[in-house]
Amino acid sequence: MNMAVAKHEKWSSGFTFLLAAIGSAVGLGNIWRFPYVVGENGGGAFVLLYIGMVILFGIPVVMTELLIGRRYQMSPVNSLAHIGQDKPARRLWNALGWSYVLVPIGILSFYGVVAGWTLNYVVKMGSGALTGVDATTVENTFNGMMSDPVVMIFWQTVAMLITMGIVARGVKGGLEKAVEILMPALFIILLVLVAYALYAGDTSKAMDFLFVPDFSKLTGRSVLEAAGQAFFSLSLGSGAIMTYGAYLTKDISIPKMSCGVAFADTLVALLAGLAIFPIVFAHGLDPQAGPGLVFVTLPVVFDGMPFGQLFGILFFLLITFAAVTSTISLLEPMVSYLEERVPHMRLKMTFLAGAVTWAVGVLAALSLNVMSDVKPLGFIQRFADKGVFDLLDYFSANVFMLLNGLMIAFFAGWVMKRTALLEELGLEDSGLFKFWRLLIKVVVPIGVGLIFINFVTEGWLMDSLEGLFNGAMAG
Ligand code: PHE
Repeated sequence: MNMAVAKHEKWSSGFTFLLAAIGSAVGLGNIWRFPYVVGENGGGAFVLLYIGMVILFGIPVVMTELLIGRRYQMSPVNSLAHIGQDKPARRLWNALGWSYVLVPIGILSFYGVVAGWTLNYVVKMGSGALTGVDATTVENTFNGMMSDPVVMIFWQTVAMLITMGIVARGVKGGLEKAVEILMPALFIILLVLVAYALYAGDTSKAMDFLFVPDFSKLTGRSVLEAAGQAFFSLSLGSGAIMTYGAYLTKDISIPKMSCGVAFADTLVALLAGLAIFPIVFAHGLDPQAGPGLVFVTLPVVFDGMPFGQLFGILFFLLITFAAVTSTISLLEPMVSYLEERVPHMRLKMTFLAGAVTWAVGVLAALSLNVMSDVKPLGFIQRFADKGVFDLLDYFSANVFMLLNGLMIAFFAGWVMKRTALLEELGLEDSGLFKFWRLLIKVVVPIGVGLIFINFVTEGWLMDSLEGLFNGAMAG
């Protein structure tokens, strides 16, 4: 294998890396997905479960992906091929490298569609289409967008073009410039919105819902959902973090950066909950509204605010920014690989990768309206009601991200040399290092493996455990 691959640009500083990595992590997953997944899973107990997953599985895997990226400074395909080359199961590690650049393409295809919705909402807010109307009209507006293929594909295309435009300019000229502006702006606006929601909404109900756990509301599914959400939100198992790690200089502390990313990401998810649920309860809206929560609930919020239209525009603009700092990190793994194959062709390679992703995304968009009868896996009973969009979401955010995360932990824990790990993490042979290694050698593979088995057996594992537990209690 030819390992003489192109050298990639590096981040200007640890801080710009941090902004970019937080930018990747903070996205629709925090502001759109987290609140509705919490809503569907009953609130506080799920939030705790989620935080547990971030600490136990999330942070160790962020560290692992960053260290593998930085060790070899190449795309996931070539990094894993490189480390795996003289190991048994070489093919498996090659395949894992490929999975690490293909999964983000799968995610980006449907993620780009949703980023398009947020762009569309910037314009809707600006035009006054959501001003002075009741909650039902807001809901109808959302349903109208969902059923219009032309509008949806138009905005998806805009979102993809913006993404490609930034990525094409490279690490320093594109990615860094974008996150340096978008991330600080996002934080400020989010804080303003939280302050408003706490002031104008039903704070005590929202606090109860988010922070008082009722464990009876958790099901076997919640455990999988929490793990899937943690992986999705931290951009794990998808090549984004590993690729960003490849652009990291050797003087930066990976453990510190990993904790910073996980902390900021979780904070933003909780803040998004605090911006949304007080309003949900104050307006008697349903916390279990699912994917429409942000697009239906928030416009109602803004409509009631002084300068609501202005805040509304800003808010959707900024969710769009949060989405864009994630979409660029989803396109980058494939582009970095293509750049290694065909050096000095970043522009062309970006548009090649972007165009393929866009085409899959069009199918995802159509599956929500004109192609809603098409169920590609309809012959399997449990997928009988899932269209292209749902399948991409389900498989990339649950199955493949978890599998990749499990495999990468196993790889770093059992296949990579201990000295290499020590060197990259800069932790000395300390208790902390031993603890991390125990997590990735044993806890992550087994924990995520069980969650995965429970998932493929449709909750059988969880049901049996519950049965055993109840039996033991009764006996
Ligand atoms: N973490 C992003 C979010 O929460 C999504 C994402 C997943 C981005 C995988 C990059 C890679 O929205």
